[in-house]
Amino acid sequence: MSNSSRILNPALRSKIMSAEDAAALIPAGANVGMSGFTGAGYPKAVPLALARRIEAAHAKGEPFRVGVWTGASTAPELDGALAKVNGLEMRLPYQSDPTCRSKINSGAMEYIDIHLSHVAQFVWFGYLGHLDVAIVEVAGIREDGSLIPANSIGNNKTWLDLADKIIIEVNDWVNPALEGMHDVYYGTRLPPFRKPIPILAPGDRIGEQYFRCDPEKIVAVVRTDAPDRNTPFTPPDANSKRIAGHILEFFEHEVKKGRLPHGLLPLQSGVGNVANAVMSGLEDGPYDNLTSYTEVLQDGMLQLIRNGKMSLASATAVSLSPDAAASFNSGAEELKKHVVLRPQEISNHPEVIRRLGVIAMNGMIEADIYGNVNSTHIAGTSIMNGIGGSGDFARNAYLSIFMTPSTAKNGAISCIVPMVSHVDHTEHDVQVVVTEQGLADLRGLSPKQRAKVMIDNCAHPDYKPALAEYYRLALEKSPGRHTPHLLGEAFGFMSEWKAKHALERA
Ligand code: COA
Repeated sequence: MSNSSRILNPALRSKIMSAEDAAALIPAGANVGMSGFTGAGYPKAVPLALARRIEAAHAKGEPFRVGVWTGASTAPELDGALAKVNGLEMRLPYQSDPTCRSKINSGAMEYIDIHLSHVAQFVWFGYLGHLDVAIVEVAGIREDGSLIPANSIGNNKTWLDLADKIIIEVNDWVNPALEGMHDVYYGTRLPPFRKPIPILAPGDRIGEQYFRCDPEKIVAVVRTDAPDRNTPFTPPDANSKRIAGHILEFFEHEVKKGRLPHGLLPLQSGVGNVANAVMSGLEDGPYDNLTSYTEVLQDGMLQLIRNGKMSLASATAVSLSPDAAASFNSGAEELKKHVVLRPQEISNHPEVIRRLGVIAMNGMIEADIYGNVNSTHIAGTSIMNGIGGSGDFARNAYLSIFMTPSTAKNGAISCIVPMVSHVDHTEHDVQVVVTEQGLADLRGLSPKQRAKVMIDNCAHPDYKPALAEYYRLALEKSPGRHTPHLLGEAFGFMSEWKAKHALERA
């Protein structure tokens, strides 16, 4: 389908213009809701044109910054380009771009890190201010003005519903055969008028295939033909394979105990090395008819679907390597039977996650001996990415698993610490912690019992003695013995490790 045959509404066809002309419609200081979720479905042309416009304004000494709201992380062409020209006043709800990260950590821009399922309702309630403009990538515009979603849904429904002005990018690269894969739910209400979200199984379709959109609000249509930013697949390293091995052994144990069914329960997992290693392990495992209720469909899950091991995957976006994206595109027609893409307020909805009994598997920066988890901050003050959907899933899952290599920075820092320097997931939401050293099943354990299994099973041998000594002293000297701590010394550990790291680098 060529771009013009993707724009079937005559009134909207008359609004086709260049990215520069569209960017000129965005005023300084505007809050802009953009499509995009992990490098899928973000606008490819207007943000770059906006960055150029901002740069030119700054060169003339004119202030020009915008607030950018998205589904989650995007790509260098959006976050990177706007951060580079100091064009971002406020960013939310998640980012993973190096330039953006360094601007946030240097204090040059503001960032709000929000549970992904919360964003839509924060915007409805007006907590985040007014949404002035939406820029949304789509696969096509239908005759009645409704929009065919692209490779991510994220918060697009909310942006289209609430923004004053809308700019649409129609991307010729997106396979039109995606039409029908999406399920956009329009039944959400504000409290006290909410009704149950009627999803009883991961594949249930409860909404519409298209975004509704008031054509009067659309001020520009921009044509593009550019691929999503798909990151190449890196084969799982040794640590990831060991972490995956512990998780798969644990699943087997839980099935034997009758605590998990033979087809397991719907899986949620982040992207990356460990997630791919777990998915590869499941490929060779005894489980059939697997399902997922997750945020992103990654390579490993696509492979499980292709091999007939996974019957259904529900997500809000795809996040694939270039090879897997090509395979997804060419097989979109067949994949529609197995994949549903939903708004992130539904893919990450606590009610549905709890009802389905999801198995949540997420990465982390560090965990402490009592099971509190830090997913977002380095040394308590610098943001890495954000909480993303990890809290939506961990808090509400049937099984909540967090994983990390036991050390970072070539062994210079232990990822198991006395007390985490920032808490994203409290001890109450963390059931299982896994490192390449082993797995700590924290369910049913008191804080002191947890400390023992965390140190014994998860800590690296280089750090076990120091952690055991901290715990011994805390038991002896802590004023309270329920969760023994020596507050003056807990973070001293970290400073010592950092000093050691600095010395080694010198
Ligand atoms: N102290 C200091 N630095 C640490 C660290 C620690 N304890 N643990 C990890 N790091 C550093 C790594 O060295 C690496 O730094 P680099 O980029 O300079 O090399 C960086 O943090 C990322 O770590 P990495 O080992 O590559 O892990 P990852 O890619 O698996 O990411 C998280 C781990 C926690 C950053 C990532 O999972 C995340 O952002 N999670 C939050 C959001 C989330 O869970 N989303 C999923 C919901 S669907």
